[in-house]
Amino acid sequence: MITIKSEREIELMRHAGHLVSEMHQFIKPYIKEGISTYELNELCDKFIRDHDAIPTCVGYEGFPSALCTSVNDVVVHGIPNKNVILKNGDIITIDVVIGYKGYQGDAAWTYAVGEVDDDKKYLMEHTEKALLEGLKMVKPGNKIGDISAAVQEYAESHNLGVVRELCGHGIGSEMHEAPEVCNYGIPHTGPTLKPGMTICIEPMLTFGKRYVYMEDDGWTVRTQDHSPAAHYEHTILVTEDGYEILTPRLDN
Ligand code: MF3
Ligand code: CO
Repeated sequence: MITIKSEREIELMRHAGHLVSEMHQFIKPYIKEGISTYELNELCDKFIRDHDAIPTCVGYEGFPSALCTSVNDVVVHGIPNKNVILKNGDIITIDVVIGYKGYQGDAAWTYAVGEVDDDKKYLMEHTEKALLEGLKMVKPGNKIGDISAAVQEYAESHNLGVVRELCGHGIGSEMHEAPEVCNYGIPHTGPTLKPGMTICIEPMLTFGKRYVYMEDDGWTVRTQDHSPAAHYEHTILVTEDGYEILTPRLDN
């Protein structure tokens, strides 16, 4: 069932989403050569709790931490680790879900560590733009497939691989609600968007082939060819005439 949120629920999701945006701003200056993904997680976990909020990923289906920290060829769900220390030229996706008074906000950005090569710059730039192409399709009357197709068309026309094993999702009091929002699909298909729906759009794109595998830890998803991957995600409210980003970037 796809839920329509009330004004009160939307207000709480705005607050949760804003905390997600603030946490990304908070952690950005720490993303430097020499820090471990474990330390990044510790800082964010404290930031979230200090804001009267809950790091929803902790304990979710056994996931151990507040953040997913996905470095280079890790596509999603990298587990923070004392032995994963950032190096100049790495890219890292920080993905976080924050709960506030029972409602969730969810956003991921990929960050450069120091100076990254042109391939990684290209991947990051066009993965974020693929998300924006998906956003342009969000308005009442359009369908989920319109978002999916727009992301896929943009990504593939820029020669990036579209990971198919993982999709975006509805969000609300639960981090994952209906509908699924995949990054590939067919226009004019799937559920119709209505005001008050809240969804996460999250292209996961690769610089090489689109194929991925899961590590034995049951979480870490990597590209099979070990090409780098990027991931950008926003929590979005469908409004009367379009959309509102509930996790706005505060840095540009
Ligand atoms: N933002 C991720 C998602 O949309 C969050 C995964 S958190 C975890 O699925 F707890 F599942 F790891
Ligand atoms: Co998500």
